[in-house]
Amino acid sequence: MGPVVFSGAQPTGQLTLGNFLGALRNWVAMQASHDCIFCIVDLHALTVRQDPKELRERSLELAALYLACGIDPAKSTVFIQSHVPAHAELAWLLSTFTQMGELERMTQFKDKAQRHRQNVNAGLFTYPVLMAADILLYQTEKVPVGEDQKQHLELTRDIAVRFNGLYGQIFKIPEPMIAADGARVKDLQEPSKKMSKSAESELARVMILDDPKEVVKKFKKAVTDGLNQICFDEENQPGVTNLLDIWCVVTGHSKEEALAHFSHNQYGRLKMETGEVVAAALSPVREEFARLRREEGYLDSILRQGALQARQRAGRTLADAYRVVGLPPLPGGDS
Ligand code: TYM
Repeated sequence: MGPVVFSGAQPTGQLTLGNFLGALRNWVAMQASHDCIFCIVDLHALTVRQDPKELRERSLELAALYLACGIDPAKSTVFIQSHVPAHAELAWLLSTFTQMGELERMTQFKDKAQRHRQNVNAGLFTYPVLMAADILLYQTEKVPVGEDQKQHLELTRDIAVRFNGLYGQIFKIPEPMIAADGARVKDLQEPSKKMSKSAESELARVMILDDPKEVVKKFKKAVTDGLNQICFDEENQPGVTNLLDIWCVVTGHSKEEALAHFSHNQYGRLKMETGEVVAAALSPVREEFARLRREEGYLDSILRQGALQARQRAGRTLADAYRVVGLPPLPGGDS
């Protein structure tokens, strides 16, 4: 089956081109050689207030989107986090092995606490502990994520090493896998920031499900600079660099090839061509999504099957962790 891979995305809003290039694209590629588990992390989504009906809908949509991107349920386990109670249970246990100071250092927490000042809840603070539980429950070896999750992965490793140091080898120590390209797709309007679902301007983010015209329109309006030269220079030309990066990941060309291709230094053409290659790459996903979304019975069966498999696997690790810290087993036998 190969090494265990675990990753997930939140069912909040639609996914962006950043999610696609930084995460999903890599998940799909790993299926051939790895034992992959892909989760829809609905418990994480609760850290920001959600409309109940919409959250439910988004979770199913995300399952359809995973499959539309190429996740194959015959090869990989796909499930919804709240269907596997061990995630919340291990998170509690691990929270007692995580220091307040460690969580206070998390940049994502600081950032979200700023943006949701009226709801800085304890879940937002302990969010990375739940993420550690997600990963550690499956004896995960590799975690393919975008750059923004790196700090959470480091904390996961620290918690696992600490726990193992006290109680023996209960958890595998996971490695983050952050692709060399596509791991940091930037906002099209404010290219110093990452592209995010929650950006204020619609023009700032390309959604996986945007129609091709919309994709091209957003790229045409992308913010660049007044330097009129096409080169990779993240500091002085973040907008142009982002467009070049996206063009490279999507076409599979190298940086040198990109510079040769765009040696005319015309920003209009760079924006247009990047928009077109992205629109072409997303079109089949969009069509497959529309087809799958209508297959509710099929999606339900995949999610049910995935949750049952995940429960079995997660249950073993949780039982070991409970045992070694001294929580007594149920008298008279299992569960
Ligand atoms: P989420 O839902 O914010 O994003 C899902 C994945 O997309 C990546 N990503 C990006 N990559 C490149 N450029 C961008 N602009 C960009 N924006 C997002 C993210 O890095 C992520 O890989 N906490 C996680 C979900 C999670 C998880 C886990 C991931 C919960 N448990 C366990 C891995 C393992 C999150 O909120 O991702």
